[in-house]
Amino acid sequence: MLEIGKVRADELVKEFGTPLIAYDLDVLRGILRQYFESFRSDSLKTGVIYASKAFSCKAMIQLISEYAMKLDVVSAGELYTAKMAGYDCKNIYFHGNNKSEEELKMAIEYGVGTVVVDNLPEAKMLARLSAGATYSIHTLLRVNPGIDAHTHKYIVTAHDDSKFGVLFSNEEDITEIVKTLSSAENIVFDGLDAHIGSQVFDKRAFVAEVRMMFQFAGLLNEKYAIKTKVIDFGGGFATYYTKEDEPIPIDEVCRTIVETCETENEKIGGIVEQILIEPGRSIAAAGSYTLYTVGFTKKTLNKNYLFVDGGMSDNIRPALYQAKYDAIVVGKEEMPAAKTYTIAGKCCESGDILIEDIPLPETKTGDIIALPATGAYCYSMASNYNKLTFPAVIFAENGSARIVIRRQTLEDLISREV
Ligand SMILES: Cc1ncc(COP(=O)(O)O)c(C=O)c1O
Repeated sequence: MLEIGKVRADELVKEFGTPLIAYDLDVLRGILRQYFESFRSDSLKTGVIYASKAFSCKAMIQLISEYAMKLDVVSAGELYTAKMAGYDCKNIYFHGNNKSEEELKMAIEYGVGTVVVDNLPEAKMLARLSAGATYSIHTLLRVNPGIDAHTHKYIVTAHDDSKFGVLFSNEEDITEIVKTLSSAENIVFDGLDAHIGSQVFDKRAFVAEVRMMFQFAGLLNEKYAIKTKVIDFGGGFATYYTKEDEPIPIDEVCRTIVETCETENEKIGGIVEQILIEPGRSIAAAGSYTLYTVGFTKKTLNKNYLFVDGGMSDNIRPALYQAKYDAIVVGKEEMPAAKTYTIAGKCCESGDILIEDIPLPETKTGDIIALPATGAYCYSMASNYNKLTFPAVIFAENGSARIVIRRQTLEDLISREV
C-alpha cells in the first residue's frame, strides 16, 4: 500500500480525512539536498531561491531554510507568511510586476534584502521610498531575454509582449532604470533577473538563457559601463507528473547551468560574481500527493466517472491549462487496470475534471485515490468555489505525520463576513 513518509495512506486518511495534501518529507528533503549540493561553483558565488508561489506556508518556509535556501515572494501575503515563519527577510527576493506602494514600504520595513524591479515606474517608486530605509536595499532588474522555452526555437526575440520585465532590446528603459536605482539613496543595483517559463524539459533552453544573459551583461558593461554582479536565472525546472514527462535530473541541470555560467563569465572578463536560480514547482511537487475519497460513481455513454470529494477548488491546473496527473487507487496498487475512468470533482462546472480517461483497477465508492505531485501550484491556487473548504496539509516523515495547515472549517468560510 502507498506509504507517505512511511505512514500508510489509509492511516493518514483515518487520522486527517480527505481531501488531504500529504508530503513525504524524505522525498522532499532529497530534492532540497540535491539543489543544495549541486548548484555550486568554484569561481562564482551561488544561491538557490525557493519560489514560494508554488506552495507557501510557515512549515514549508522553515523546511527550505534548513537547506540555506533564499526565498522568492511576490506579494504582501507571501512576504507576511515568510516573516511569520521566522524567516530572515534579508534573504528574501521580492518579485512582482505590480507591487503596490504599501507592499514596497512593507518590504523596506521588514528589511527585505533584494527587490527584483520589473519596470521603470517601480524603479522610481522604490527610489523615492528608499530614502526612508535604514539599510541598503539590493536590487535586480527583471529582463526578458525573449526565450520561449517551450518550442524548439529557443530564441524568439521579436514580438514578445510578456507582461514581465523589460525586453533586452529596450536599452533605453534598462539604462534609465539602472540609473534611477544606482543614484537612489540606500539602493544598490546588483544585476539581472529572468525567468523563461515553467515545466521546462530541455536543458538547452537554460543553456540558451545563460548565454544570452551573460552576453547581455557584457553588452551593458561595454556600452554603458553598467556592472552586472549578480544574475538570477529564475525557475522552470520540470517535475514528473505522468509517464509522458522526462524531467532533467536536478543535479544535471544545476551542473549544466553552473558550467555554462563559468564559461560565459570568462568570456566577459569575469564581471559576474554570483549566480542564482529560483525553483518552485520541482521542490513543492516533490513527494506530494492529494488523497481523495471516491463518492458516487456514474456511467455515461462514454465515461466511467469517479466523483471525488474535492476537485478544481483544490487543483485548478487540469481545468486551467489541461495539466495531466497520474492516480493511484490506495490498496489496489498492484492490481491490473480494469477500466478507464474519468476522475471528476464536486464543483458545479463541467470542466471540473481532474483526470480524463485513466486506466485503473476496479474502483468503487469509499476507495481512496491519490494524485501524486499535487504539492505545486494547487494549494497556492486553491479557491473556495462552491464554498468548498481548503484541504488540510500534512508533512509525514519516518512513520509519523504532523499537520502543517489545518483543514478549513465552515466557520472559517464566513469568518470575514460582516
Ligand atoms: C520569476 C519567477 N521565478 C521562479 C518561478 C518558479 O518557477 P517554477 O515553479 O517553474 O520553478 C516563477 C514561476 O512562475 C517565476 O515567475
